[in-house]
Amino acid sequence: MEVFRKRPIKKDSANVLKRELKLKDLIMLGIGAIIGTGIFVVTGQASANYAGPASMISFIIAALVVVLNGICFAEFASRVPVSGGPYSYMYVVFGELTAWIAGWLLICEYMLAVSSVAAGWSGYFQGFLSNWGIELPQALTAGYNPEQGTYIDLIAALVMVLITLWVTQEAKKALRLNNAMVWVKFGVIILFVAVGVFFVQPENWQPYMPFGVQGVFNGAALVFFAFLGFDSISMAAEEVENPRRDVPRGIIGSILIATILYVIVTLILTGIVPFSQLGVADPVAFAMRYINQGFTGSVISVGTILTLLTVTISMLYSLARLIYSISKDGLLPKFLQQIDEKRRTPKNATFVAGAIGLFFAAAFPLNILAELTNITALTCLALMALGVIRLRKMLGEPKKGEFKVPFVPLLPIISVISCVFLMLQLDKITWTVFIIALLLGLLIYFAYGYQHSDLNENKS
Ligand code: ALA
Repeated sequence: MEVFRKRPIKKDSANVLKRELKLKDLIMLGIGAIIGTGIFVVTGQASANYAGPASMISFIIAALVVVLNGICFAEFASRVPVSGGPYSYMYVVFGELTAWIAGWLLICEYMLAVSSVAAGWSGYFQGFLSNWGIELPQALTAGYNPEQGTYIDLIAALVMVLITLWVTQEAKKALRLNNAMVWVKFGVIILFVAVGVFFVQPENWQPYMPFGVQGVFNGAALVFFAFLGFDSISMAAEEVENPRRDVPRGIIGSILIATILYVIVTLILTGIVPFSQLGVADPVAFAMRYINQGFTGSVISVGTILTLLTVTISMLYSLARLIYSISKDGLLPKFLQQIDEKRRTPKNATFVAGAIGLFFAAAFPLNILAELTNITALTCLALMALGVIRLRKMLGEPKKGEFKVPFVPLLPIISVISCVFLMLQLDKITWTVFIIALLLGLLIYFAYGYQHSDLNENKS
Protein backbone atom coordinates (compact mmCIF):
# COMPACT_ATOMS: atom_id res chain seq x y z
CA MET A 1 0.00 0.00 0.00
CA GLU A 2 1.28 3.44 -0.83
CA VAL A 3 -0.49 5.42 1.83
CA PHE A 4 2.43 7.84 2.07
CA ARG A 5 2.54 8.77 -1.60
CA LYS A 6 3.30 12.47 -1.95
CA ARG A 7 1.97 15.22 -4.11
CA PRO A 8 4.73 17.25 -5.80
CA ILE A 9 5.04 20.97 -5.01
CA LYS A 10 3.45 22.46 -8.03
CA LYS A 11 1.98 25.89 -8.14
CA ASP A 12 -1.77 25.56 -8.57
CA SER A 13 -2.47 26.31 -12.20
CA ALA A 14 -5.82 27.72 -11.21
CA ASN A 15 -4.14 30.56 -9.41
CA VAL A 16 -5.18 33.56 -11.39
CA LEU A 17 -5.86 35.55 -8.28
CA LYS A 18 -4.69 39.10 -8.12
CA ARG A 19 -1.90 39.84 -5.64
CA GLU A 20 -3.30 42.90 -3.99
CA LEU A 21 -3.60 42.24 -0.26
CA LYS A 22 -1.36 44.23 2.06
CA LEU A 23 -0.50 43.79 5.73
CA LYS A 24 -3.46 45.93 6.80
CA ASP A 25 -5.87 43.78 4.75
CA LEU A 26 -4.40 40.61 6.22
CA ILE A 27 -4.84 41.85 9.76
CA MET A 28 -8.46 42.75 8.97
CA LEU A 29 -8.97 39.31 7.48
CA GLY A 30 -7.40 37.68 10.53
CA ILE A 31 -9.41 39.69 13.05
CA GLY A 32 -12.55 38.99 10.99
CA ALA A 33 -11.99 35.25 11.29
CA ILE A 34 -10.54 35.15 14.82
CA ILE A 35 -12.88 37.29 16.90
CA GLY A 36 -16.29 35.70 17.37
CA THR A 37 -17.93 33.44 19.88
CA GLY A 38 -14.64 33.20 21.74
CA ILE A 39 -14.75 36.72 23.08
CA PHE A 40 -18.52 37.05 23.28
CA VAL A 41 -19.36 33.75 24.95
CA VAL A 42 -16.38 31.56 25.82
CA THR A 43 -14.83 34.28 28.03
CA GLY A 44 -17.80 33.90 30.38
CA GLN A 45 -17.70 30.09 30.39
CA ALA A 46 -13.96 30.02 31.05
CA SER A 47 -14.28 32.46 33.95
CA ALA A 48 -17.29 30.80 35.54
CA ASN A 49 -16.25 27.17 35.19
CA TYR A 50 -12.47 27.04 35.04
CA ALA A 51 -10.25 29.98 35.77
CA GLY A 52 -12.25 32.78 37.44
CA PRO A 53 -10.70 36.24 36.99
CA ALA A 54 -7.40 34.52 36.09
CA SER A 55 -8.93 33.52 32.75
CA MET A 56 -6.92 36.39 31.31
CA ILE A 57 -3.83 34.27 32.04
CA SER A 58 -5.54 31.38 30.24
CA PHE A 59 -5.87 33.66 27.21
CA ILE A 60 -2.19 34.55 27.34
CA ILE A 61 -1.15 30.88 27.60
CA ALA A 62 -3.40 29.99 24.66
CA ALA A 63 -2.01 32.92 22.67
CA LEU A 64 1.57 31.70 23.21
CA VAL A 65 0.65 28.24 21.92
CA VAL A 66 -1.08 29.80 18.93
CA VAL A 67 1.87 32.08 18.09
CA LEU A 68 4.32 29.17 18.28
CA ASN A 69 2.16 27.33 15.79
CA GLY A 70 1.33 30.41 13.76
CA ILE A 71 4.97 30.77 12.79
CA CYS A 72 5.07 27.14 11.61
CA PHE A 73 2.09 27.99 9.43
CA ALA A 74 3.98 31.04 8.21
CA GLU A 75 7.00 29.01 7.07
CA PHE A 76 4.76 26.66 5.12
CA ALA A 77 2.81 29.56 3.63
CA SER A 78 5.97 31.27 2.47
CA ARG A 79 7.80 28.19 1.16
CA VAL A 80 5.16 25.85 -0.23
CA PRO A 81 3.19 27.74 -2.82
CA VAL A 82 -0.01 25.71 -2.86
CA SER A 83 -3.41 26.72 -1.61
CA GLY A 84 -5.43 24.57 0.78
CA GLY A 85 -3.59 25.06 4.07
CA PRO A 86 -2.46 22.12 6.26
CA TYR A 87 -4.17 19.52 4.08
CA SER A 88 -2.06 20.46 1.04
CA TYR A 89 1.09 21.03 3.08
CA MET A 90 0.89 17.57 4.61
CA TYR A 91 0.47 16.04 1.15
CA VAL A 92 3.82 17.55 0.22
CA VAL A 93 5.80 16.58 3.32
CA PHE A 94 4.25 13.46 4.80
CA GLY A 95 2.15 12.04 1.99
CA GLU A 96 -1.44 11.08 1.48
CA LEU A 97 -2.51 9.38 4.70
CA THR A 98 -1.30 12.24 6.90
CA ALA A 99 -2.76 14.75 4.45
CA TRP A 100 -6.10 13.00 4.66
CA ILE A 101 -5.98 12.93 8.47
CA ALA A 102 -5.15 16.66 8.51
CA GLY A 103 -7.90 17.32 5.95
CA TRP A 104 -10.42 15.23 7.86
CA LEU A 105 -9.57 16.94 11.15
CA LEU A 106 -9.81 20.32 9.44
CA ILE A 107 -13.26 19.40 8.12
CA CYS A 108 -14.26 18.42 11.67
CA GLU A 109 -12.68 21.58 13.10
CA TYR A 110 -14.42 23.95 10.72
CA MET A 111 -17.71 22.14 11.00
CA LEU A 112 -17.60 22.16 14.80
CA ALA A 113 -16.51 25.80 14.78
CA VAL A 114 -19.49 26.71 12.56
CA SER A 115 -21.77 24.86 14.97
CA SER A 116 -20.16 26.53 17.99
CA VAL A 117 -20.55 30.00 16.55
CA ALA A 118 -24.17 29.19 15.61
CA ALA A 119 -24.77 28.09 19.22
CA GLY A 120 -23.12 31.32 20.47
CA TRP A 121 -25.29 33.30 18.10
CA SER A 122 -28.35 31.55 19.44
CA GLY A 123 -27.42 32.61 22.99
CA TYR A 124 -27.24 36.27 22.05
CA PHE A 125 -30.38 36.11 19.95
CA GLN A 126 -32.32 34.54 22.81
CA GLY A 127 -30.96 37.19 25.18
CA PHE A 128 -32.16 39.82 22.75
CA LEU A 129 -35.61 38.21 22.44
CA SER A 130 -35.95 38.02 26.21
CA ASN A 131 -35.50 41.82 26.34
CA TRP A 132 -38.81 41.89 24.47
CA GLY A 133 -40.40 39.37 26.79
CA ILE A 134 -40.12 36.48 24.33
CA GLU A 135 -38.87 33.29 25.93
CA LEU A 136 -38.50 29.88 24.27
CA PRO A 137 -39.43 26.74 26.23
CA GLN A 138 -36.34 25.73 28.25
CA ALA A 139 -36.02 22.42 26.37
CA LEU A 140 -35.39 24.27 23.10
CA THR A 141 -32.84 26.81 24.33
CA ALA A 142 -29.59 24.83 24.13
CA GLY A 143 -28.02 21.49 23.15
CA TYR A 144 -28.53 18.20 25.01
CA ASN A 145 -28.01 18.70 28.73
CA PRO A 146 -30.83 17.06 30.73
CA GLU A 147 -29.42 18.41 34.02
CA GLN A 148 -30.23 21.89 32.80
CA GLY A 149 -33.45 20.77 31.14
CA THR A 150 -32.20 21.57 27.62
CA TYR A 151 -32.43 19.18 24.67
CA ILE A 152 -32.26 21.00 21.36
CA ASP A 153 -30.98 24.42 20.38
CA LEU A 154 -33.78 25.46 18.06
CA ILE A 155 -32.38 28.87 17.11
CA ALA A 156 -28.92 27.45 16.35
CA ALA A 157 -30.57 24.87 14.06
CA LEU A 158 -32.58 27.54 12.26
CA VAL A 159 -29.56 29.76 11.78
CA MET A 160 -27.65 26.83 10.27
CA VAL A 161 -30.43 26.36 7.71
CA LEU A 162 -30.35 30.07 6.93
CA ILE A 163 -26.60 30.36 6.47
CA THR A 164 -26.37 27.15 4.46
CA LEU A 165 -28.87 28.53 1.97
CA TRP A 166 -27.12 31.87 2.03
CA VAL A 167 -23.65 30.44 1.43
CA THR A 168 -24.87 28.47 -1.60
CA GLN A 169 -26.45 31.59 -3.02
CA GLU A 170 -24.68 34.77 -2.06
CA ALA A 171 -21.41 33.72 -0.48
CA LYS A 172 -19.25 36.38 -2.10
CA LYS A 173 -21.54 39.18 -0.99
CA ALA A 174 -21.68 37.76 2.52
CA LEU A 175 -17.89 37.61 2.66
CA ARG A 176 -17.63 41.27 1.74
CA LEU A 177 -20.00 42.00 4.56
CA ASN A 178 -17.61 40.18 6.87
CA ASN A 179 -14.95 42.85 6.35
CA ALA A 180 -17.36 45.61 7.29
CA MET A 181 -18.31 43.59 10.35
CA VAL A 182 -14.77 43.82 11.70
CA TRP A 183 -15.53 47.45 12.50
CA VAL A 184 -18.79 46.49 14.17
CA LYS A 185 -16.83 44.04 16.34
CA PHE A 186 -14.36 46.72 17.33
CA GLY A 187 -17.29 49.08 18.01
CA VAL A 188 -19.05 46.56 20.26
CA ILE A 189 -15.87 45.81 22.20
CA ILE A 190 -14.96 49.49 22.62
CA LEU A 191 -18.50 50.27 23.78
CA PHE A 192 -18.37 47.44 26.32
CA VAL A 193 -14.99 48.57 27.66
CA ALA A 194 -15.86 52.29 27.69
CA VAL A 195 -19.07 51.73 29.67
CA GLY A 196 -17.89 48.81 31.79
CA VAL A 197 -14.70 50.39 33.06
CA PHE A 198 -16.72 52.76 35.29
CA PHE A 199 -18.45 49.87 37.03
CA VAL A 200 -15.43 47.73 37.87
CA GLN A 201 -15.28 46.64 41.49
CA PRO A 202 -11.79 45.33 42.25
CA GLU A 203 -13.12 43.01 44.97
CA ASN A 204 -14.69 40.94 42.17
CA TRP A 205 -11.16 39.97 41.14
CA GLN A 206 -10.78 38.10 44.44
CA PRO A 207 -10.21 35.19 44.66
CA TYR A 208 -8.09 35.57 41.56
CA MET A 209 -7.54 31.86 40.89
CA PRO A 210 -10.57 30.16 42.47
CA PHE A 211 -9.88 26.87 40.68
CA GLY A 212 -6.09 26.94 41.16
CA VAL A 213 -3.39 26.69 38.53
CA GLN A 214 -5.05 23.60 37.03
CA GLY A 215 -8.16 25.69 36.41
CA VAL A 216 -6.07 28.25 34.52
CA PHE A 217 -4.67 25.49 32.26
CA ASN A 218 -8.12 24.01 31.72
CA GLY A 219 -9.29 27.50 30.87
CA ALA A 220 -6.43 27.88 28.37
CA ALA A 221 -7.47 24.66 26.64
CA LEU A 222 -10.99 26.06 26.27
CA VAL A 223 -10.18 29.66 25.28
CA PHE A 224 -7.73 28.41 22.65
CA PHE A 225 -10.95 28.35 20.64
CA ALA A 226 -10.99 32.13 20.63
CA PHE A 227 -7.83 32.23 18.47
CA LEU A 228 -8.93 29.82 15.79
CA GLY A 229 -9.25 31.35 12.38
CA PHE A 230 -5.74 32.82 12.26
CA ASP A 231 -4.91 30.28 9.54
CA SER A 232 -7.27 32.10 7.18
CA ILE A 233 -4.35 34.48 6.66
CA SER A 234 -2.02 31.81 5.34
CA MET A 235 -4.82 30.48 3.17
CA ALA A 236 -4.94 33.86 1.45
CA ALA A 237 -1.19 33.76 0.69
CA GLU A 238 -1.76 33.66 -3.04
CA GLU A 239 -3.50 36.99 -3.06
CA VAL A 240 -0.89 38.82 -0.99
CA GLU A 241 1.41 41.36 -2.60
CA ASN A 242 4.43 40.38 -0.50
CA PRO A 243 3.49 37.07 1.14
CA ARG A 244 6.91 36.21 2.57
CA ARG A 245 7.04 39.34 4.61
CA ASP A 246 3.40 40.04 5.29
CA VAL A 247 1.82 36.62 5.97
CA PRO A 248 3.85 35.98 9.14
CA ARG A 249 3.43 39.57 10.24
CA GLY A 250 -0.31 39.32 9.59
CA ILE A 251 -0.61 36.13 11.64
CA ILE A 252 1.41 37.42 14.57
CA GLY A 253 -0.15 40.92 14.40
CA SER A 254 -3.73 39.69 14.45
CA ILE A 255 -3.06 37.22 17.27
CA LEU A 256 -1.47 40.04 19.25
CA ILE A 257 -4.41 42.40 18.71
CA ALA A 258 -6.88 39.63 19.59
CA THR A 259 -4.94 38.79 22.77
CA ILE A 260 -4.93 42.41 23.92
CA LEU A 261 -8.69 42.67 23.32
CA TYR A 262 -9.39 39.36 25.07
CA VAL A 263 -7.38 40.32 28.13
CA ILE A 264 -9.06 43.73 28.41
CA VAL A 265 -12.56 42.29 27.93
CA THR A 266 -11.91 39.55 30.52
CA LEU A 267 -10.55 42.09 32.97
CA ILE A 268 -13.64 44.28 32.70
CA LEU A 269 -16.08 41.38 32.55
CA THR A 270 -14.78 39.76 35.72
CA GLY A 271 -14.43 43.19 37.29
CA ILE A 272 -18.10 44.08 36.95
CA VAL A 273 -19.78 40.69 37.48
CA PRO A 274 -18.71 38.08 40.08
CA PHE A 275 -17.09 35.35 37.94
CA SER A 276 -19.40 32.61 39.20
CA GLN A 277 -22.35 34.31 37.50
CA LEU A 278 -20.75 34.53 34.07
CA GLY A 279 -21.66 31.08 32.78
CA VAL A 280 -24.57 32.49 30.75
CA ALA A 281 -25.15 32.32 27.00
CA ASP A 282 -24.50 36.02 26.38
CA PRO A 283 -22.03 37.15 29.07
CA VAL A 284 -20.93 40.45 27.50
CA ALA A 285 -24.52 41.71 27.12
CA PHE A 286 -25.46 40.13 30.45
CA ALA A 287 -22.72 42.14 32.18
CA MET A 288 -24.30 45.34 30.88
CA ARG A 289 -27.72 44.29 32.12
CA TYR A 290 -26.12 43.40 35.46
CA ILE A 291 -25.02 47.00 35.93
CA ASN A 292 -28.39 48.32 34.75
CA GLN A 293 -27.10 49.44 31.38
CA GLY A 294 -29.83 47.52 29.55
CA PHE A 295 -29.78 49.75 26.48
CA THR A 296 -26.03 49.32 25.99
CA GLY A 297 -26.59 45.59 26.51
CA SER A 298 -29.14 45.56 23.67
CA VAL A 299 -26.81 47.47 21.35
CA ILE A 300 -24.06 44.95 22.15
CA SER A 301 -26.48 42.06 21.50
CA VAL A 302 -27.45 43.43 18.09
CA GLY A 303 -23.79 44.06 17.15
CA THR A 304 -22.86 40.55 18.27
CA ILE A 305 -25.79 38.97 16.43
CA LEU A 306 -24.64 40.65 13.22
CA THR A 307 -20.96 39.84 13.60
CA LEU A 308 -21.40 36.21 14.64
CA LEU A 309 -23.66 35.64 11.67
CA THR A 310 -20.92 36.72 9.29
CA VAL A 311 -18.32 34.59 11.13
CA THR A 312 -20.49 31.50 10.58
CA ILE A 313 -20.92 32.41 6.93
CA SER A 314 -17.21 32.77 6.28
CA MET A 315 -16.44 29.52 8.10
CA LEU A 316 -19.06 27.55 6.22
CA TYR A 317 -17.74 29.10 3.01
CA SER A 318 -14.18 27.87 3.74
CA LEU A 319 -15.45 24.49 4.90
CA ALA A 320 -17.41 23.88 1.70
CA ARG A 321 -14.35 24.76 -0.40
CA LEU A 322 -12.14 22.47 1.65
CA ILE A 323 -14.53 19.54 1.15
CA TYR A 324 -14.77 20.41 -2.53
CA SER A 325 -11.00 20.38 -3.04
CA ILE A 326 -10.46 17.17 -1.07
CA SER A 327 -13.15 15.57 -3.19
CA LYS A 328 -11.39 16.81 -6.34
CA ASP A 329 -8.26 14.98 -5.20
CA GLY A 330 -10.41 11.86 -5.08
CA LEU A 331 -10.41 11.30 -1.32
CA LEU A 332 -14.12 12.08 -0.88
CA PRO A 333 -17.02 11.03 -3.14
CA LYS A 334 -17.41 12.81 -6.46
CA PHE A 335 -20.91 14.15 -5.84
CA LEU A 336 -19.32 16.67 -3.47
CA GLN A 337 -17.71 18.35 -6.48
CA GLN A 338 -20.98 19.35 -8.03
CA ILE A 339 -21.17 23.06 -8.75
CA ASP A 340 -24.31 25.17 -8.82
CA GLU A 341 -24.59 26.06 -12.52
CA LYS A 342 -25.81 29.57 -11.98
CA ARG A 343 -23.88 30.66 -8.89
CA ARG A 344 -20.66 28.71 -9.49
CA THR A 345 -20.59 27.57 -5.85
CA PRO A 346 -19.89 24.01 -4.60
CA LYS A 347 -23.50 23.43 -3.62
CA ASN A 348 -23.41 19.76 -2.60
CA ALA A 349 -20.36 20.27 -0.40
CA THR A 350 -22.12 23.23 1.22
CA PHE A 351 -25.34 21.29 1.82
CA VAL A 352 -23.55 18.32 3.36
CA ALA A 353 -21.41 20.59 5.56
CA GLY A 354 -24.49 22.59 6.57
CA ALA A 355 -26.56 19.50 7.39
CA ILE A 356 -23.91 17.95 9.63
CA GLY A 357 -23.20 21.35 11.20
CA LEU A 358 -26.92 21.70 11.90
CA PHE A 359 -26.99 18.40 13.77
CA PHE A 360 -24.07 19.39 16.01
CA ALA A 361 -25.32 22.95 16.57
CA ALA A 362 -28.74 21.69 17.61
CA ALA A 363 -27.64 18.71 19.70
CA PHE A 364 -24.52 19.78 21.62
CA PRO A 365 -24.02 22.56 24.14
CA LEU A 366 -21.46 25.21 23.24
CA ASN A 367 -18.72 24.20 25.70
CA ILE A 368 -18.58 20.66 24.30
CA LEU A 369 -18.57 21.97 20.74
CA ALA A 370 -15.75 24.39 21.54
CA GLU A 371 -13.65 21.68 23.23
CA LEU A 372 -14.15 19.33 20.29
CA THR A 373 -13.16 22.08 17.89
CA ASN A 374 -10.02 22.66 19.93
CA ILE A 375 -8.87 19.07 20.10
CA THR A 376 -9.11 18.68 16.32
CA ALA A 377 -7.38 22.03 15.74
CA LEU A 378 -4.58 21.26 18.20
CA THR A 379 -3.87 17.95 16.46
CA CYS A 380 -3.61 19.73 13.11
CA LEU A 381 -1.27 22.32 14.59
CA ALA A 382 0.96 19.64 16.06
CA LEU A 383 1.11 17.96 12.65
CA MET A 384 2.09 21.27 11.09
CA ALA A 385 4.91 21.76 13.60
CA LEU A 386 6.25 18.27 12.85
CA GLY A 387 5.83 19.12 9.18
CA VAL A 388 8.24 22.05 9.50
CA ILE A 389 10.99 19.71 10.70
CA ARG A 390 10.31 17.42 7.74
CA LEU A 391 10.14 20.37 5.33
CA ARG A 392 13.65 21.43 6.38
CA LYS A 393 14.89 17.92 5.58
CA MET A 394 13.26 18.06 2.15
CA LEU A 395 14.02 21.62 1.07
CA GLY A 396 16.84 22.68 3.39
CA GLU A 397 17.00 26.05 5.09
CA PRO A 398 14.63 28.76 3.87
CA LYS A 399 16.10 31.01 1.19
CA LYS A 400 16.54 34.73 1.58
CA GLY A 401 13.12 36.36 1.68
CA GLU A 402 11.34 33.19 2.85
CA PHE A 403 9.97 33.07 6.37
CA LYS A 404 12.11 31.03 8.71
CA VAL A 405 10.98 29.42 11.97
CA PRO A 406 13.87 30.08 14.36
CA PHE A 407 15.57 27.27 16.31
CA VAL A 408 14.35 24.29 14.29
CA PRO A 409 13.82 21.57 15.52
CA LEU A 410 13.64 22.93 19.09
CA LEU A 411 10.82 25.38 18.54
CA PRO A 412 8.55 23.02 16.56
CA ILE A 413 9.12 20.37 19.24
CA ILE A 414 8.11 22.84 21.97
CA SER A 415 5.15 23.69 19.81
CA VAL A 416 4.06 20.03 19.57
CA ILE A 417 4.49 19.61 23.32
CA SER A 418 2.41 22.73 23.98
CA CYS A 419 -0.40 21.42 21.76
CA VAL A 420 -0.38 18.02 23.45
CA PHE A 421 -0.31 19.72 26.84
CA LEU A 422 -3.47 21.71 26.05
CA MET A 423 -5.14 18.64 24.58
CA LEU A 424 -4.51 16.75 27.82
CA GLN A 425 -6.43 19.40 29.76
CA LEU A 426 -9.62 18.62 27.86
CA ASP A 427 -12.49 16.47 29.13
CA LYS A 428 -12.70 12.70 28.77
CA ILE A 429 -15.87 12.98 26.70
CA THR A 430 -14.05 15.29 24.29
CA TRP A 431 -11.28 12.69 23.90
CA THR A 432 -13.80 9.91 23.35
CA VAL A 433 -15.61 11.76 20.57
CA PHE A 434 -12.24 12.78 19.09
CA ILE A 435 -10.99 9.19 18.93
CA ILE A 436 -14.25 8.07 17.33
CA ALA A 437 -13.93 10.85 14.75
CA LEU A 438 -10.33 9.85 14.02
CA LEU A 439 -11.29 6.20 13.54
CA LEU A 440 -14.16 7.22 11.29
CA GLY A 441 -11.69 9.26 9.24
CA LEU A 442 -9.35 6.27 8.87
CA LEU A 443 -12.29 4.08 7.87
CA ILE A 444 -13.31 6.55 5.14
CA TYR A 445 -9.74 6.64 3.83
CA PHE A 446 -9.22 2.91 3.67
CA ALA A 447 -12.73 2.13 2.45
CA TYR A 448 -12.90 4.90 -0.13
CA GLY A 449 -10.11 7.50 -0.42
CA TYR A 450 -7.20 5.13 -1.01
CA GLN A 451 -8.87 3.51 -4.03
CA HIS A 452 -10.23 6.72 -5.48
CA SER A 453 -7.30 9.08 -4.94
CA ASP A 454 -6.21 10.74 -8.18
CA LEU A 455 -2.64 9.73 -7.30
CA ASN A 456 -3.71 6.15 -7.82
CA GLU A 457 -1.83 4.82 -10.82
CA ASN A 458 -4.33 2.05 -11.42
CA LYS A 459 -7.22 4.45 -11.52
CA SER A 460 -9.35 3.85 -14.56
N1 ALA B 1 -12.07 32.19 16.98
C1 ALA B 1 -13.40 32.01 16.55
C2 ALA B 1 -14.38 32.50 17.54
O1 ALA B 1 -14.00 32.87 18.61
C3 ALA B 1 -13.64 30.57 16.23
O2 ALA B 1 -15.55 32.52 17.25
